[in-house]
Amino acid sequence: MTAGAGWLGRRRIDLIECGSTNDEAARLARAGAEHGTVVTAVAQRAGRGREGRTWASPPGLGLYLSAVVRPALPLVLVPPMTLAIGVWVCDAARAFGADARLKWPNDVLACGRKLAGVLVEAQSQGGRLEAVIVGIGVNLAGALPPELAGRAITLAAAAAAGRGAAPGAPEPRPEPPIDRGAFTAALLRHVEAWIDRYVAAGLVPVIDAWHARMARGLTVRVAAGGGAGAPGGAFLEGEAEGLDADGALLLRERSGRSHRIRTGDVEVIRVIETAAAAAEPAPPSC
Ligand code: BTN
Repeated sequence: MTAGAGWLGRRRIDLIECGSTNDEAARLARAGAEHGTVVTAVAQRAGRGREGRTWASPPGLGLYLSAVVRPALPLVLVPPMTLAIGVWVCDAARAFGADARLKWPNDVLACGRKLAGVLVEAQSQGGRLEAVIVGIGVNLAGALPPELAGRAITLAAAAAAGRGAAPGAPEPRPEPPIDRGAFTAALLRHVEAWIDRYVAAGLVPVIDAWHARMARGLTVRVAAGGGAGAPGGAFLEGEAEGLDADGALLLRERSGRSHRIRTGDVEVIRVIETAAAAAEPAPPSC
């Protein structure tokens, strides 16, 4: 199946199972796979997230997708791509009824829980960018593994919460069916548009779009430089205020002191509290 007239998904490999679609895409990229090659899997045995975390990937629960992208970009501009991609993953989830918001650097949240994540990895040779592997995981529908149930949410559950309870009914509406093919096609079309926009125009339009979708009032804790136990390391805690012009997170401590956090500086970034919900109330059924 192809994704419209564009380049993303023109070649597509749909697997029943693999270790990680990012690893499959990386292998294909090293073997010369063309720009826009997409790998999906029904299940991953070793799905990976950022910071070496596992991405739970049982059959049918999620969309597990990786793309080989060969953009004309210097290596240094690869990490902020994750922001551009997050914008559309967020919009795709909104188009399917979820009240999705962004959490820096790569999380899509609904009801304060994780709905999707983006893992961008670069392949380079002699300082030159050869390929970017863009990995996207979205929890679509079904039962989440018990260890994730309090922290994660599916698109189907988020869409049901977004519709609220039927008038006069105490319960939230039932979860709508999610058309996996339609969601994947929409995702590919629009991720492609955001990658093109990022390559052509840089971060400025991405940052505006990202701010318009960011989860407000998140208090985050960041372990910089190895955390409090490491020489020169520290924990910083404060409100995520937004992005700086280069995509770094601006974090404001209670004292009012502001810090710039870049992905490379951060070993742990964790939402420890969801506050200030008044500005953007979550749907009542969350
Ligand atoms: C994160 O939030 O930490 C990023 C999660 C990225 C998960 C996706 S699923 C498809 C692709 N294959 C992987 O092993 N990881 C990414």
